[in-house]
Amino acid sequence: MTVLVTGGTGYIGSHTVVELLENKIKVIVIDNFTNSKREVVDRIKKITGKDFIFYEKDVCDKEALRKIFQKHSIDAVIHFAGYKAVGESVKDPLKYYQNNLFSTIQLLQVMDEADCRKLVFSSSATVYGNPKTLPIKEDFPLSTTNPYGTTKWMIEQILRDVERSNSNWSIAILRYFNPIGAHPSGLLGEDPNGIPNNLMPYIMKVANHELGTLNVFGNDYNTKDGTGVRDYIHVVDLAKGHLKALDKIAKTTGVDAYNLGTGIGYSVLEMIHTFEKVNGVKINYRITDRRPGDIDACYADASYAEKELGWKAEKSLEDMCRDAYHYIVQNKK
Ligand code: WQD
Repeated sequence: MTVLVTGGTGYIGSHTVVELLENKIKVIVIDNFTNSKREVVDRIKKITGKDFIFYEKDVCDKEALRKIFQKHSIDAVIHFAGYKAVGESVKDPLKYYQNNLFSTIQLLQVMDEADCRKLVFSSSATVYGNPKTLPIKEDFPLSTTNPYGTTKWMIEQILRDVERSNSNWSIAILRYFNPIGAHPSGLLGEDPNGIPNNLMPYIMKVANHELGTLNVFGNDYNTKDGTGVRDYIHVVDLAKGHLKALDKIAKTTGVDAYNLGTGIGYSVLEMIHTFEKVNGVKINYRITDRRPGDIDACYADASYAEKELGWKAEKSLEDMCRDAYHYIVQNKK
């Protein structure tokens, strides 16, 4: 089986490529390094001992996509490529609509031309907005609160319309909760440039003394200790979910969405204390005002993915904290 992975040198994409290669799947990666580093290509090869084809191209480049599909017999696509910073999307919505929507439409048109109609799409729990009850099920109403989330919601609608126009399409929409952690080898992980927006990368930079103090955005939420609760999932568990989704779309047609989460919610303070305990480090923090747009709590009902994909997250919060810190220590600048 040959799989094209768009955004395959990114955080989740690279971990997924490792799992694909380790399962003897032939991989072609297309990435323009907007949010990743070239060295990830070599690190994937080092971890797996396997080679794969890489194209430094933009998924918006239709002619480049056409050439790839003409040159290779591609059985399925996993589509990660896209901008994903919530704050940036609020400041520059057109950049997000242009890139995330246009690239996806180009990809779908070229896939259709090539009679390749099996797709795994990287969506996000952000499409659920602020859920009225918990845990979140796939049939909950969808609503978005920022342009990034809206691009994910719009693409999910586009995929459903495409399948309605041609029932030969087989599409798995994967709604990620909060991916964190790193490959146990310490060769792959999340290392955003500049000041991180997300909790774990920020904790990692405090642990590594690149940043001084973590701001805890509010402790007056309606949660166990007042701080925000989220469903954190190890990136390797998430990557394995993509292989199960590939198996599913190989056997079926139609479109379906699956929550990829652990089903367990942890608060910010629980995350801090677990990280400190597991790694023997101190994370300095202070309580500050809420971050606009944040919700109290969000965690998955992951039973549908278990039933339909035969997938269930296995790694603990301790594993996530340990692997995240190991990555930082291994890659100290
Ligand atoms: C987690 C918790 C914050 C930073 C985002 C995107 C979502 C998805 C995952 C792509 C919250 C608190 C955070 C900090 C803090 N990305 N926090 N101090 O907001 O749940 O989801 O990433 O799909 O689309 O919205 O993740 O890590 O930013 O925040 O207190 O410096 O940590 O308030 O409770 P979030 P996060």
